[in-house]
Amino acid sequence: MTKIAKLTLDDGRTIDLPVIEGSEHEKAIDITKLRAQTGYVTLDSGYMNTGACTSKITFLDGENGILRYRGYDIAELCEKSSFLEVSYLLIYGELPTADEFKAFRAKIRNHSLIHEDMKNFFNNYPGQTHPMAILSSMVCSLSAYYPGLLESDQSPEDRDATITRILSKVRVLAAFAYKRSIGQAFVYPKNSLNYVANFLNMMFEVPAEDYEIDPVAQRAMELLLILHADHEQNCSTSTVRLVGSSKANLFASISSGICALWGPLHGGANQEVLEMLEDIHKDGGDYKKFLDMAKDKNNPFKLMGFGHRVYKNFDPRAKIIKKACDDLLAKWGINDPLLEIAKGLEEAALKDPYFVERKLYPNVDFYSGIIYRAMGIPTNMFTVMFAIGRLPGWIAQWKEMVEDPAMKIGRPRQIYTGETSRTYSPIERRG
Ligand code: ACO
Repeated sequence: MTKIAKLTLDDGRTIDLPVIEGSEHEKAIDITKLRAQTGYVTLDSGYMNTGACTSKITFLDGENGILRYRGYDIAELCEKSSFLEVSYLLIYGELPTADEFKAFRAKIRNHSLIHEDMKNFFNNYPGQTHPMAILSSMVCSLSAYYPGLLESDQSPEDRDATITRILSKVRVLAAFAYKRSIGQAFVYPKNSLNYVANFLNMMFEVPAEDYEIDPVAQRAMELLLILHADHEQNCSTSTVRLVGSSKANLFASISSGICALWGPLHGGANQEVLEMLEDIHKDGGDYKKFLDMAKDKNNPFKLMGFGHRVYKNFDPRAKIIKKACDDLLAKWGINDPLLEIAKGLEEAALKDPYFVERKLYPNVDFYSGIIYRAMGIPTNMFTVMFAIGRLPGWIAQWKEMVEDPAMKIGRPRQIYTGETSRTYSPIERRG
């Protein structure tokens, strides 16, 4: 039996609206026909309470701290899977068989090179360019090299070819952006290595020296990338969907997602966290002072890496990262004063009524930077690492949308609050 919600309007009319229920019993009121039936729209700035689509990819329960990709718990995937396998799962809906995975990996390996001409682009950026600016531009620039893959109504084969290329090449673009920023020669992909090891090699190999990939670093990177791989309809993913809904190609849609991720309230927070911890350290380590600043309504300072739109209990990703961070630093024998500051800050915030009342907990970005730092990844590359991790999620969400025959261009309504109609007067009469 179809469930309905009743809505009574200010003019006394009552209308029935269908209720939609998800597979985890999440409920939504379907207001698609509300305006046609009544002339009303809904208003929800910041989409605090608006479902923009139905999706089979990621389930997130913010109250209970649950995160699952295609039904698999994030902790189990982190423990047992690889980033490439998780990418396949997100994009194609099921864990791959051995043959499917072999074929997928071979395709990723075959498409790792970028066109030699693209190296000129990197060389012409000023030395201090933020790598997120380079990455977003380069991903969009890939469209120049694949004019045959830009059709809005692609065949499944062409769609797969585009997906494979972008997944493989993003590592090269990211590593080249880094090498450019430090003035070192680019290192080409080495396809005998797996997805993550190949990336680490491109980042850290220098022609004059042998670089040996540390298996602990490789596993830590797999874990971080898996944890970032999807997070349902967040700011950057919604951007990818919105841009893609105009039938813009995948390269352009992903590039816009990278730009959205860059902001400090979203993926850019991982860089901001580390810079904040460094500031506290330089200031003598008094984190309580910074906690007070975050609580002061007259001060724009926020505790970066704290709070989340959806998680109001704990962020399950933060829990996994915190443990990984402890384990890794112990394994490598690193005693990082920033970790001690982060722990002190977390402990103090979790006891502080301001943070408790507002349900503000450490999010995924709070400890990830300390791991990246221990791996030798520079602070301005942290958000790039996030983008590499989030890529399969963006692709999966885009693919789900474009394969839906009912897809419509994203186009919100508004409530206009500006001037009503008035008449133009020539400039000389305006005084
Ligand atoms: N430090 C201090 N106060 C905070 C913080 C913080 N980090 N986060 C939220 N608050 C306060 C707000 O000032 C507000 O207080 P008020 O009710 O007295 O006005 C209240 O908590 C609610 O916060 P909102 O900003 O309304 O919550 P929203 O859901 O819009 O924002 C966000 C969520 C953007 C993540 C916010 O918590 C924030 O800015 N955090 C810091 C940046 C950050 O870590 N971003 C990464 C998020 S995870 C990710 O994108 C990967």
